Amino acid sequence: MMEEGRAASFSFIPSVDVPPVVERAEGCTLWFAGGREVIDAGGGAVAVNIGHGRAEVAQAIAQATQRVSYVIPPWVTEERVALVEALRERWLPPELSQVALVSGGSESVDSAIRLAVSHHTSAGRPNRWKVIGRETSYHGTTMTTLSVGGHRSRRRGFEHILTDFPKMPVFDAEGLEKIIESENPETIAAVIAEPVIGAAAGALIPPDDWWSDVRELCDSNGILLIADEVMTGFGRTGKKFGVDHWNVVPDIMVGGKGLSGGYAPLGGVFASEKVVSPIAKGGSGMMFFTFSAHSGSCAAGVAALKVLEDEDLVSASASKGEEFLTLLSSLEDHVHVREVRGLGLMIGIELVDDKESGRPFNPSTGIASQVVAEALRRGVWVYPAGDGNAPDALLVGPPFTITTSEMEATARVLGDAVSAVCGD
Ligand SMILES: Cc1ncc(COP(=O)(O)O)c(C=O)c1O
Repeated sequence: MMEEGRAASFSFIPSVDVPPVVERAEGCTLWFAGGREVIDAGGGAVAVNIGHGRAEVAQAIAQATQRVSYVIPPWVTEERVALVEALRERWLPPELSQVALVSGGSESVDSAIRLAVSHHTSAGRPNRWKVIGRETSYHGTTMTTLSVGGHRSRRRGFEHILTDFPKMPVFDAEGLEKIIESENPETIAAVIAEPVIGAAAGALIPPDDWWSDVRELCDSNGILLIADEVMTGFGRTGKKFGVDHWNVVPDIMVGGKGLSGGYAPLGGVFASEKVVSPIAKGGSGMMFFTFSAHSGSCAAGVAALKVLEDEDLVSASASKGEEFLTLLSSLEDHVHVREVRGLGLMIGIELVDDKESGRPFNPSTGIASQVVAEALRRGVWVYPAGDGNAPDALLVGPPFTITTSEMEATARVLGDAVSAVCGD
């Protein structure tokens, strides 16, 4: 077993908490040092969709990197093309034919913003550079993705150097229309949103018309629509993509997390021909990151998508999501649980100090993190979430292979952890 001093030395910013040492993972189970078992009901950072320990994914990565360890991203390898083909043929809406591969969610959103601005500049509209984000949202942690996001606590301390992109109110299409008018539509490149708000609110679902209203507003004002499917994509909400619930096709979609099932760093930018053609006509391209489209990551993506397809796991996410939501809904009886909500296996549990008035806990208590730590002590990992509209939430996002008994155990532990930390 690893000694504590070695584990403690791993942290970049020193902290009193020693991070867990994970020795092995299989299905939905993590084995911590010393043999303690933990249910991975958060799928790590809501990334693990096909479950841990899939030998075929690990072997695909090994074979790919054995054959070609590295060549520059624009060159072609078998795994790169195979992933683009799988995405085009079986996953993406037909309108989104153009695929760029990167190494994660922040890189994919950052690249999508660069793409949107480049699209307009190449078409002779350099004034269109603003990207409207949403209050209460999370799009990543590079400077540009923090700028477009509305996650106040993650932006804290950097506000003075972030680009001042406009923010639309949460799920209020009229509010967006007003912002477009007041900013001047001719200055706006794109609108970006998560289909279901994840890290910033704990699975907050928009009203039925919201996405189609936003699509219409973008169309009528010459603005590109970017859907951030980093968390919601690849089956997490019980459909291939979150926007599929509202039959909307964005101009640009980005993915990460579940695209490789968590087996390798991988993200994607998916765009229509309309978006890329002015860039091609202008003779420009898109600068790559050194590790974009890494063959090992692409091999992981191909293998993870195959598991999702072969085992019909997107449907499993829908049906198990309903089962899990029903089980977790019993937590709403708790005096501090305001709401349990979700789509597929993306489920949020919102915590409040006072249910009747909706008064949140004092932010200094960090109540969601305390509940997460307590649940972990009791053998269940869920992801802490919340900011803005829902300051304290737990995000449940397990592998789509989770069993009924694992769901029951998770619901029981979460109920106990909420009671232990928040009181009855
Ligand atoms: C919707 C969304 N976009 C972007 C990101 C950033 O992805 P990454 O952490 O892989 O950079 C996240 C991460 O949680 C996310 O949930």
